[in-house]
Amino acid sequence: MVFGIRVAAKRNTSLRWRHVPPEKLSLRSLRVLIFGGTGGIGQGLSRFLCSKGADVTVVGQTFREEDISEIKFIEANLELMSEAKRVARELLEETFDLIIFSAGIVAAPTREETVEGIERDLAVSYLNRLILLRTILPKLEKSQTHILSKPRVFIIGYPGAGILGSPNDLNSEKYYSAMRAHMNTIAGNEALVFDCAKRYPNVSFFGLNPGLIKTNIRDNLLGAGSWKSRMVEGFIEYWFQSVEEYAKHVGPLLVTPDVDSHSPAFFNSKGQAIYSQGFTKHHVEWIISESEALLEKSRISY
Ligand SMILES: NC(=O)c1ccc[n+]([C@@H]2O[C@H](COP(=O)([O-])OP(=O)(O)OC[C@H]3O[C@@H](n4cnc5c(N)ncnc54)[C@H](OP(=O)(O)O)[C@@H]3O)[C@@H](O)[C@H]2O)c1
Repeated sequence: MVFGIRVAAKRNTSLRWRHVPPEKLSLRSLRVLIFGGTGGIGQGLSRFLCSKGADVTVVGQTFREEDISEIKFIEANLELMSEAKRVARELLEETFDLIIFSAGIVAAPTREETVEGIERDLAVSYLNRLILLRTILPKLEKSQTHILSKPRVFIIGYPGAGILGSPNDLNSEKYYSAMRAHMNTIAGNEALVFDCAKRYPNVSFFGLNPGLIKTNIRDNLLGAGSWKSRMVEGFIEYWFQSVEEYAKHVGPLLVTPDVDSHSPAFFNSKGQAIYSQGFTKHHVEWIISESEALLEKSRISY
C-alpha cells in the first residue's frame, strides 16, 4: 500500500503481448489524440508517439511543446462539460486511430465545485471523458483506420485495485474527503472501459494503471512546490519509474496487434495485463447510470 492505495493489481497471465523494442517502432500515418497530452504522463506518451512518426494532437489548457512543431494543440478547460462537448463536436471533423484519456487532477483538501455544479476532480478526471466518448465514438466506430485494425481508446486511471467508488454519492455532496472523491474518478474510469466496450464493439477499449509516477497530479491536494509535495514527489521519483520510462513500457502496447481481440482489458505500470476486480455488470451499470443522472441533474446533455 502507498498513500492508502494498493499498488499491485492481480496479473492476468492469459493475456500476453510481444513487446517490440521502442526503437523498432515506426508509426508514420498513425493519427493520435491525447486528452491531457500537455503535461505529465500524457505529454510523455505524446512525445514518444510523435518521435515514432505519429501525427499527434493534444488537448489541454497549456501547450508546452513550442520546440516540437509536429504536435498540434487544442485548448480546452475540461472541468467544464460544455467545453468537453464543444471540443468533441470540433473533433468530429477529424479522424483518429488512437485516443488516450490522461487529463486529470487529484481532489483538493476541501470540496471544490465547478460552475456546472460538479465536484472538480470528478469533472476533470472522469465525467468529461464520458461526454467526449459518447460524442466521438458513434463516428469513430465507422472510420477507416491506419496501422491499427480498428480504432483504440486507452483510458488512464487506476484500474485493477478493486476501488469501487461511492456510486450513490458520485458528486461527494453527502460526504467529502479528497481520497473518497478521487476514488469515485478511479471507479468511474474503470466502469467507462467496460461500458464503452459493450456499447461500441467496433472500437477497442483498454484501461491503463500507470502506478505512481512523479508528475503534477498531486498539486491540487498537496500544494504545488510545498514541502509536503516535495517530500511525496521525491519519494515517488526515487522508488518509481519516470514518465519517459513509462512511455517506453507502454508505447508499444498502444499499437500491438496482440491485444486486438481482448477488449476490454487492463494493464499495469509495466504494460502487463491485469484483472479488473469487483466490477460486476451491476456495478458498472450503477456507476454509469448515476453519472448520467448527475449530468441530467446539472442539465448537461451527453
Ligand atoms: N502520476 C501518477 O502517480 C498517477 C497515478 C495513477 C493514475 N494517474 C492518472 O494518470 C493521468 C495523468 O496524470 P498525470 O500524472 O500525468 O498528471 P499531470 O502531470 O498533472 O497531467 C495532467 C494533465 O491533465 C491536464 N488537465 C488538468 N486539468 C485540466 C483541465 N481543467 N482541462 C484540461 N486539461 C487539464 C493537464 O493539462 P494542463 O497542464 O494543460 O492543464 C495535463 O496535461 C490521470 O488520469 C491520473 O489520475 C497518475
